[in-house]
Amino acid sequence: MQKEKIIQELEELKNDNRFRTIKTNDKSLYNFSSNDYLGLAHDKDLLQKFYQNYSFDNYKLSSSSSRLIDGSYLTVMRLEKKVEEIYGKPCLVFNSGFDANSSVIETFFDKKSLIITDRLNHASIYEGCINSRAKILRYKHLDVSALEKLLKKYSEDYDDILVVTETVYSMDGDCSDIKKICDLKDEYKFNLMVDEAHSYGVYGYGIAYNEKLIDKIDFLVIPLGKAGASVGAYVICDEVYKNYLINKSK
Ligand SMILES: Cc1ncc(COP(=O)(O)O)c(C=O)c1O
Repeated sequence: MQKEKIIQELEELKNDNRFRTIKTNDKSLYNFSSNDYLGLAHDKDLLQKFYQNYSFDNYKLSSSSSRLIDGSYLTVMRLEKKVEEIYGKPCLVFNSGFDANSSVIETFFDKKSLIITDRLNHASIYEGCINSRAKILRYKHLDVSALEKLLKKYSEDYDDILVVTETVYSMDGDCSDIKKICDLKDEYKFNLMVDEAHSYGVYGYGIAYNEKLIDKIDFLVIPLGKAGASVGAYVICDEVYKNYLINKSK
């Protein structure tokens, strides 16, 4: 993008009163705009209990480089193992939900693929779709029959099809019918990616876990910045996918 165009867009944002700046945390204010909806991340008792329960040997404050270059924290490896025990599938920890979503999509799908996505999916999902250069089709929010129509129409034309949905949607708190979407796999060949950012914590380990659908979901993404009261994301997927991500994901 041309510099002039960027400057012009910033000017337009300022004129529209939509120009954002990074502010420092002012302790004299209540913060109602973070993802820490319940204030869990600042709950001193909870933090203390957390540190009591998990012994952080070799715990440092900076990683200094990516895991691939310098090796991983033992803590992260243990976390991945623990998550694998819970969900029954390997886990790769990403540093954010945004990275997890966009990386998974752009690593596995390309311009020969078709991605079918709920219209209201998160920006990180759209980022991955766009970066992948796949053909993108959006279906009406939560409308599984609209999704099925697209699968019926296009499944012969593409070898690689990805269907992406969230479980709980942030704006209205409405839920997709992931059981029904999983059932479509009996009829059509596609990969399924599910983002549980807003259900993890609210629904325990998430709706996919509760409804025993983990096996049917190729990429289960669990960002931890909401009710997880933390940062980063789990990508829960088969071992081969995990290894491919480790080797190929940006
Ligand atoms: C549905 C959904 N997926 C992914 C993300 C991105 O997660 P993170 O904040 O960890 O980058 C968000 C954040 O708002 C989200 O709402």
